[in-house]
Amino acid sequence: CIDIRTLGAKTGLFTYDSGYLSTASCRSKITFIDGDKGELLYRGYPIEQLAQSCNFLEVAYLLWNGELPTPAEKVSFEKNIKNHTMVHEQLVKFYQGFRRDAHPMAILVGVVGALSAFYHEAEDFSDLEHQNISFNRIVAKLPTIVAMAYKYHVGEPFMYPRNDLDYTANFMHMMFGTPCEEYKPNPVLVHALDTIFTLHADHEQNASTSTVRLSGSSGANPYACISAGIACLWGPAHGGANEACLQMLEEIHDVSRVGEYIARAKDKNDSFKLMGFGHRVYKNFDPRAKLMREVCKDVLQELGLENDRLFKLAMELERIALEDSYFIEKKLYPNVDFYSGIVQKALGIPTTMFTCIFALARTVGWMTQWEEMINDPEYKIGRPRQLYMGAARRDVIPAAQR
Ligand code: ACO
Repeated sequence: CIDIRTLGAKTGLFTYDSGYLSTASCRSKITFIDGDKGELLYRGYPIEQLAQSCNFLEVAYLLWNGELPTPAEKVSFEKNIKNHTMVHEQLVKFYQGFRRDAHPMAILVGVVGALSAFYHEAEDFSDLEHQNISFNRIVAKLPTIVAMAYKYHVGEPFMYPRNDLDYTANFMHMMFGTPCEEYKPNPVLVHALDTIFTLHADHEQNASTSTVRLSGSSGANPYACISAGIACLWGPAHGGANEACLQMLEEIHDVSRVGEYIARAKDKNDSFKLMGFGHRVYKNFDPRAKLMREVCKDVLQELGLENDRLFKLAMELERIALEDSYFIEKKLYPNVDFYSGIVQKALGIPTTMFTCIFALARTVGWMTQWEEMINDPEYKIGRPRQLYMGAARRDVIPAAQR
């Protein structure tokens, strides 16, 4: 690892690294990925152990504070989050300005960005106390805002948060409960969604996290930065991949057509890629994909869907791809999105909401990365350079002579 620092505009090394393939944009103590081994650590703890032993809010506490909570800290943290689950009643009017068929991610970008209009302390986040309040607020409100986007989309009344339920069960209540019928959380399904949240909580300097850092580096308020992260996450090469993956599986439809789609993915003249396959950093199995496959099995078993067509199709696609020399040579393995769409579909979450679920969970990582950046003594506004490839200096010819 070489630390190259430029001392002024005319000194130092100038590099061109499209896509940041080999350039670190920051120093961080939050998340570690070993892409060759397929290892993911949050604050040093393996993701497998966290998924097994902790719930999402404990993981959120860990990411934000650097250590797992003691029992007393856990109770106090949960209480703080529950204090902030409601949104301002005027925010409800924002939703009514959207078309019913708006993509919920479009609604999320707008509503989260608007939060700073309600919480003026976002203008002063210079001390840890205000940073903590912003974290609690946004982590607590994301489930409410996401569930409201869903309810608006399907034309059902908004459900208020229930603070007698834990974080994930409350989210499911706001999504699936109605004023006519109380939602009764199924512990297996709540645990599955909670695990999805944990697996998506942070992933070091991916595109959306880098967007949050870059936005925050100008001093923009955290709500605006998270909104920018949500916009970036939406793309199909990033958080939109689980939605795209499920659409792909629906399109393939039958195991007999897997070969045809694998051939398309390998064809240089075809822009088609196997959604849910490949990763910039993992050149081995994405450890989250392995955990997600297990969650998928548990959910399908609980719901009596063991013979689910899409799950069988996904397993067959994975088997064939992993034996194919193209995928072996390019080190293309299933990523976290490969199975998460099937789990979410089985939980009753519509495809258009998948990326919102991802955003809900990743908000914890985004806020933590933002906080780390603004408290870094070396923190500077992010300002990438460019390799200019355009015209050399030239003079304007008056319009009549062109
Ligand atoms: N199917 C077929 N070929 C692929 C795939 C795929 N899913 N992914 C990469 N390749 C090929 C590329 O065509 C390229 O081939 P080449 O060397 O002959 O040009 C080679 O593998 C390297 O791929 P790049 O696109 O250069 O790798 P990069 O690191 O830039 O992209 C990415 C990674 C965007 C994830 C890519 O693998 C992809 O588009 N996958 C499908 C979308 C997806 O699942 N995204 C989710 C990522 S995880 C997340 O955001 C949570």
